[in-house]
Order: sequence, then C-alpha cells, then structure tokens
Amino acid sequence: MARIGLLGHGVVGGGVAEILLKNAELLKGRVGQGLELAAICDLRDFSALPYASLFTKDAQALLARPDIDIVVECMGGVEPARSFVLRAIDSGKHVVTSNKALVVAAGEEIIQKAAEKGVRFLYEASTGGGIPVIGPLRQNLAANHIGSIAGILNGTTNYILTRMRDGGASFAAALEEAQQKGYAEQDPAADVEGDDARRKICILCHVAFGSPLSDEGMFTEGITLLEKQDMLYARELGRSVKLIALGERVEGGFRASVAPAMLPGDHPLAGVSDVFNAVLVNGDMVGDVLFYGRGAGQLPTASAIVGDIVDIALHPSDRAIEPPAPLRCLDALSGQVRLFSRVLCPLTPGAQQEVEGLFPGARLVTVEGEAFAEEFALITEEGVESELRARFERFDLPHGAVIRYISP
Ligand code: HSE
Repeated sequence: MARIGLLGHGVVGGGVAEILLKNAELLKGRVGQGLELAAICDLRDFSALPYASLFTKDAQALLARPDIDIVVECMGGVEPARSFVLRAIDSGKHVVTSNKALVVAAGEEIIQKAAEKGVRFLYEASTGGGIPVIGPLRQNLAANHIGSIAGILNGTTNYILTRMRDGGASFAAALEEAQQKGYAEQDPAADVEGDDARRKICILCHVAFGSPLSDEGMFTEGITLLEKQDMLYARELGRSVKLIALGERVEGGFRASVAPAMLPGDHPLAGVSDVFNAVLVNGDMVGDVLFYGRGAGQLPTASAIVGDIVDIALHPSDRAIEPPAPLRCLDALSGQVRLFSRVLCPLTPGAQQEVEGLFPGARLVTVEGEAFAEEFALITEEGVESELRARFERFDLPHGAVIRYISP
C-alpha cells in the first residue's frame, strides 16, 4: 500500500482525489498495491464532501505523518509550496507536483535534495496538462539528440485564440469562459502574457537540452496585442495564429522563446484548437513526434499526476535519468525569421514607400471588406529577428502586433 498526502484541494488537487477514489480498484489492479489517499491539507471548508474526514488545515502535521509515502503538491505558487516540498523530501517522502512555477523557481534545489535523500520528485503534470511529454522526452526519446521542441503549451490562450478566430467571442469574453472552465491561472495575466508557456518550455528545455531550470530573461510575448483582424489575415493567407513556445538546438547552444506565430495551414500545430495543447519534438534518430491532448483542466492534469504516483509506487528507488550535457542558452532573437504585422492606415503610395524603405522586399497583403479598408498588412523578407524587430520600433506608420511568420 502506498499512502498519499495531498497538499491543496483546488481544481487539480480535487481531480487527484477524485481519480484516486473513483479509480481505486483499477489502480490497485495495475500497480499491484492500493494507492490510498491518506490526508488532504486545505484551509477551506470541505465538510460536505464524502471524504471530509481526510481533511486537515495543518500542513506540518500532514508532512510529519510517518505513514505517508508520497506527497502531492497542488497548491500553486512558490511559497509555501517550496518549503513544504523540501520538508517532505527531508522526511524521506517522494513528491509529485503540477506546479510549474515551483519547478522553475526551485526545481534545481528540490532535485538536488531529492537525490541526496534517495527519493523521487516527478512533475509530468507541470507541462502539457494531461499529455505525457516529460516522461517520453526523458526516457522513450533518450536515444536522441533533441533538435527542437515547438509547443502550444497554454490551454487558456489557445482557447481564447480559437474563440477569437471563430468570431464567437471577444478576448475578454473568451478569457472569462476559460476561467469558468478552470483552465486559467489564478492570475490570468500569467496565461495571456506568456509567462505560463515560458515556464513550461523552460522545463522541457531542461529535460531535452540539459539547461538549468531558469527562465530568466527568456524572450516572452503573449497574446494581449493580438486582435481578431490578425486571425482574419491568417485565414486569408491559409494560416493560423498560435502562441508558440519554442526550444531549438542551433550551432553553439539552443534558443528558447515564447511568441505568437502565424503557422502554415498544414503545420502539425496549426489545427490544434480550444484548450488542447500539442508538442512537436524532433529527435535526430526518431524524426518528428507529435504529442497532443488536453493541456489544462481538472481531470486531464490530475491524470498526469496520478501517472507519476503510479510510477513512484512501482519504482520507488529508481535513479532519476540524468538530463543531457547542458547546451548553452543563446540569444532568442538571433535566428532568421520573417515577421508579419498589420499596418493601421490605408495602403497609399506614401505608405507603400515607407514600408519598402524600411522593409525591402516585404510582401503587402490586403483583405477585401469594409473592416479592412483602412489598413493592410506586411510580411517581411527573412532576416535576423532582433534586427527586424528593431526596425518595427523605428517604423513611423501605426502597426499591430508583430507575429512570427513561419515558412513556407
Ligand atoms: N493555465 C494553464 C493553461 C493551466 O491554461 O494551460 C495548465 O497549466
């Protein structure tokens, strides 16, 4: 019997309790031992629940219980989650978390302590919600040098972009729907400004490129500057706008960033809609591998957590697979790209001259219809991204969001 102590009974923690209780027989049969939910710590009142007797408000008491083998942290945020996790590991308990902020802020320290104490620290649910991606990258793809990871890693923003594209909702209404469905972070700025996706690509780069668990200074742009018209230009061009988290191995190291991108219609990530996430990984031996599934939500995320619990119950003393030798993190904007932007004035000869002066060879795009009479869009030639972005800062004409235009 493995006994589990749960810290936090919010959206995800509640899902973990539900799975452990509902699928107890299935899990017992598959693991060969029961996975017993022994205690839950949450400061709120859950006295109406059928398993109310498991609740405590005293985290330290839960962590001190010698009969608890695995602590599942679903509190979110860095503190006090970090202190509780370190305390659990100090007491010889394994830890599972879905908390990407914790993994990025304190992962190095926690991993080191877990190695010293001979316990396991798993965090599959921190990235990609219900999609298994950390485990496969770590183990099933261990034979590969990973060349690139391109992901739609935030369900909330993908949901908002899908609703905007389909014309059904404004940005604010779509965000509210995502909050109601339990997809959004407590502070949804973390979703829409790209911070959540940045933490997740940082975790994947650690697993794939051996880089430190630190997202400091990583180029991050969210979806707050995007408008419905961007989606309509994309549709006109046979493309989709997605928030893409990217990690790519290049000469001398790797680059990582989060930014909106206009993907060709036949790109494997172009059709990923609603709350779904997908991660396209390229390995030097396997080629392309695509992971797809629900990237947020109660039961999908809890499903990944319970997968980690099962792994620990079956292999409590497994040595962690080492990350590969670390690659050096390079300037995210040093690669060659094309950029797209709306220009918010009519396409007069003067405007055309201005565009061509600053962006020689740019392709100009117009869309029929009254809503587009006062604007056009430009797609630059390929160039070094930092230089192209700097040119947009010098651009005299009013313009919209700058979006990576993925070739072809
Ligand atoms: N707010 C996150 C998202 C939750 O929307 O993807 C899952 O990490």
